[in-house]
Amino acid sequence: MVEIKNLLVLGTGLMGNGIGQVALMAGYNVTLVDIVEEALNKAAADIEGGLKKLEAKGKLGEGETAASVMTKCAKSTDLASAVKNADIVIEAVIEKLSVKKDVCKTTMNNGPAHVIFASNTSTMSITEIGKDCGAPERVCGMHFFNPVPLMSCIEVIKSADTSDDTFNTAMDVAKKLPCLRGKRYIAPVLKDRPGFIVNRVNAPVGIYRSYITDYAYENGIPWEQIDADTGGIMPMPPYVLADYVGLDTSYHAANYYAETLHPDFTPGKVTTRMVKEGKLGRKTGQGYYDWSKGRPEPDMSKKAGLLDLELIMAIRLNEGCRLIEEGVVTGWKVIDDANMAGMNTPGPFGAGKNNWEKYTKKLEEFVEKSGREYLKPCELMRTGKFVNMKK
Ligand code: NAI
Repeated sequence: MVEIKNLLVLGTGLMGNGIGQVALMAGYNVTLVDIVEEALNKAAADIEGGLKKLEAKGKLGEGETAASVMTKCAKSTDLASAVKNADIVIEAVIEKLSVKKDVCKTTMNNGPAHVIFASNTSTMSITEIGKDCGAPERVCGMHFFNPVPLMSCIEVIKSADTSDDTFNTAMDVAKKLPCLRGKRYIAPVLKDRPGFIVNRVNAPVGIYRSYITDYAYENGIPWEQIDADTGGIMPMPPYVLADYVGLDTSYHAANYYAETLHPDFTPGKVTTRMVKEGKLGRKTGQGYYDWSKGRPEPDMSKKAGLLDLELIMAIRLNEGCRLIEEGVVTGWKVIDDANMAGMNTPGPFGAGKNNWEKYTKKLEEFVEKSGREYLKPCELMRTGKFVNMKK
């Protein structure tokens, strides 16, 4: 295994910025690379600002100052030359396959013979990104959660071609990146499947939400009554959250899962129409709620009695069992731990271990009623065999 000293962060937007900061704090020589000079300057300024705050709180390493840490930070707009002495490239460029494949090839054509290319893609196949670069064994995934310095989870993904050496090196680098809130948690993802672990476990809840959304619209049930069904246990109830994230983001993700996993993920009628009309939520001022006067405060006193939180847990448990069946993980604990570390929400297995029979029945009834075949309980869930498997 080559010792990693020089780390290149490619694409210095929201995610690259955070990755750059934690890489510098870990002591790596970091080169920030972006094709847009303003993005580069903003990232360097933001990182320095973040480090200064930590310095003021005494949270930098012994004898270190923001200025001393920043001496290890370089900037470039030219990947081909900047990659010449990089040991690892962590890429956070825009989510476009052609761009990712292109920068992967440039890395392999111009970097040292040992350089590793790690992609932070949320949705794309790592195998596909690395396929034509000339050294697919040195390509892997490193999937961070936003904001990188605060969310402790990093999923490290093995593609169909990633060598053990590349995977182990990426795991090592990930473990060294500090997290400002507790310990870093690294989830090894042993197979390159859509959504990896955290996003995948939660993705099929979208099938249920689409069903409920269309049903509520057709029956004149207001969104706030469905939000009230959650009884205030979530920091943001589902329709406020959907607006906050942006309807376009979940729409694109749903289409991706419809193409890669099952047509049942296809976005519902109401969401599709809203996206086409540009009602994207917070960012456009109108989504399920009106955001023109700030964050909506739905009246939580009247419930629709429509949203079943146990069914949501059942859907997530089923998907977690599928991840075990597919060999993405070797046991269930990593799924629960990654959920907590990546989304601050408990994974499905804690409750699922004792409730799988009830959850299986709920899922079967829902499939019967809704026709959403993808949500049929898989073998591992239906038989409860996961309970006796290695954690
Ligand atoms: P962003 O839009 O904030 O930043 C992308 C940056 O890439 C921009 O500065 C842009 O100038 C730069 N860029 C575009 N083409 C480039 C090229 N050929 N070479 C160098 N730089 C280039 O995007 P964001 O949100 O930081 O996302 C980046 C990646 O991280 C995407 O793949 C996204 O799916 C993934 N991701 C995003 C998360 C999020 O919460 N935003 C969470 C986890 C992963």
